[in-house]
Amino acid sequence: MKNLRVLILAAGKSTRMKSKFAKVLHRAGGRTLIEHVLTAARRLSAEIAVVVGHSADLVKNASTGVSFVDQKEQLGTGHAVLSARDHYAGYDGDLLVMPGDVPLIASDTLDQFGQFHREGGFVACVLTADIDDPTGYGRIVRRDDHELQSIVEHRDASPAIRQIREINSSIYVFNAPALFDCLSKVRNDNAQREYYLTDVIGLLVGQNRKVGAFKVSRAEEILGINTRQELATVDRILRRRKTEELMTNGVTIMDPATAYIDADVQIGADSIIYPAVQIYGNTVVGEDAAIHSFTRLSNARIGARSVVLEGSIIVDSEIGQDVSVGPYAHLRMGTSVADTAKVGNFVEIKKSSLGAGTKSMHHAYLGDATIGKNVNIGAGVITCNYDGVNKHQTIVEDGAFVGTDSQLIAPVRVGKDAYVAAGSSITEDVPPESLAIGRGRQVNKEGWRRKKK
Ligand code: UD1
Ligand code: CA
Repeated sequence: MKNLRVLILAAGKSTRMKSKFAKVLHRAGGRTLIEHVLTAARRLSAEIAVVVGHSADLVKNASTGVSFVDQKEQLGTGHAVLSARDHYAGYDGDLLVMPGDVPLIASDTLDQFGQFHREGGFVACVLTADIDDPTGYGRIVRRDDHELQSIVEHRDASPAIRQIREINSSIYVFNAPALFDCLSKVRNDNAQREYYLTDVIGLLVGQNRKVGAFKVSRAEEILGINTRQELATVDRILRRRKTEELMTNGVTIMDPATAYIDADVQIGADSIIYPAVQIYGNTVVGEDAAIHSFTRLSNARIGARSVVLEGSIIVDSEIGQDVSVGPYAHLRMGTSVADTAKVGNFVEIKKSSLGAGTKSMHHAYLGDATIGKNVNIGAGVITCNYDGVNKHQTIVEDGAFVGTDSQLIAPVRVGKDAYVAAGSSITEDVPPESLAIGRGRQVNKEGWRRKKK
C-alpha cells in the first residue's frame, strides 16, 4: 500500500491494570501487546511511529524498527496524535492511527479497511464493531450504511446514544493534513477533561467532508485491553489460535485448553503434546517428539523423536534427536544433550554438554561439565563445581564410567574409558582406561555386636 503511514498510541498509563508498567508492555500469547500490534502494522507500512509517555524507555525497548514521538503529559488521545504533528510535517498521505492495546487485530482487516478508505474517497474512516456490551466505548452515530455522523464517548452519551451497540475501535485512517488541521481545534470540554481524537470526526463532518465507518465482522479483533481480566481473555484467545495452527500443521495436542504455547513456538508434525504443558519463547520441537504433562520448555530445542517425560523443565538448552529426558529433570543455562542420550529422574544439568549415547539416569547434578560420548553417570553423581568463590570445570571423556554416589571435585578430568568406583570422591585427574577408587576402606569388626551385649 502506497502513501500509508502508521501511528500507534501507547503513552497512556494502565490505570485499570493497577500496574507500574505501561499497558502495552503486558503480555498475552507470549508477546507484549505492543509487539502484537506492531506485527500487524508492519505488514501495511514500513513507516511506523509510536507515541510514548508512561514507561517510555521500556516501551521503546519493546518496539524495534520504528520511530518514536514523546507525549510528555497524557491529556487524551487527541493530544497524543497532536504530539506527532511535527513528525508528519510535509506529509500529505494517509495515516492509520491505532491504539497499542488491540493485540488481536489482523493485518488483513487493516488492509481491507485501508482499501475501503481509498476507494470510498473519504477524508477519514473509523473501524467499528457491533458488540454485546458496549459499556465504556465510544458510540458510532451513523448517517447511513457507509457514512458517519459523530462518535460520542460513553461518559458523555445520552441514554438514547448508550443504546447503540456499534462502537469505535479507536482504529482510524485519516488524510494527514485534514487530521492535524482539525486537531488544533479540539477542546477538552467533556466529562474527562481530555482532548479526544474522536472529536475530529464530528469536526470533519461539520466541514461537510466525507467520513466513513467500516464494520469488522469478527468483533473479537478489536478487543482493547484495559483490565487484567481482559488480558486473560485475550491470552486465552491467542493460545487457542496457536493450538489451532499447530493442530492444522499435524501436531497432536491432547488438551488444547491446558496447552500454554507461545506464538513463536514451532513444533514438527506428529509430535504429541500431553495435557498441561507449557512451551514458551522461541522453543523449537522437531517431528515425532512427545512432551509429557507438567513440563515447561523455555527457549529450548528438542530434536526429532525425543521424549520429555512428566514434570521436566528445560530452559535455554538444546536436546538432540532420539533423546529421553525426565521425569522430573531440570536442564538449564545452555545445556546440550546429544542424540540418543538419556537423562532420567531428578537429574539437574547446568551449563554442560552430554555426548551421544551418554546416560545419567537418576538423581545427579552436573554443572559446568563436558561429558563425552557413551559415558555412564551413575545414580547420585555430583559435580562439585563451586568452591564458594569460583566455578570450575569437570571433564569426563568418552566411554568413561562414573560409579554411583561419586563426587567429581572440580577442576577435574576423568580420562577416556576410565572407571570411577562407586562412592568415590575424585579430587585428582583419572588417567584413561584406569580405575579410580577414592573412598575409605571398609573395616569389618567381627563379633562386635555379640561382645557389646
Ligand atoms: C478510546 C476511544 C473510544 C473507543 C476506545 C476503544 C477516545 C476519546 N476514545 O477510549 O471511543 O471506543 O478507545 O478502545 O479516543 N493514549 C495516549 N495518550 C493519551 C491518552 C491515551 O497515548 O493521552 C493511548 C493509550 O495508551 C491507548 C490509546 O491511546 O493505547 C487509547 O486510550 P484509552 O485511554 O484506552 O482510550 P479509551 O478510554 O479506551
Ligand atoms: Ca482503551
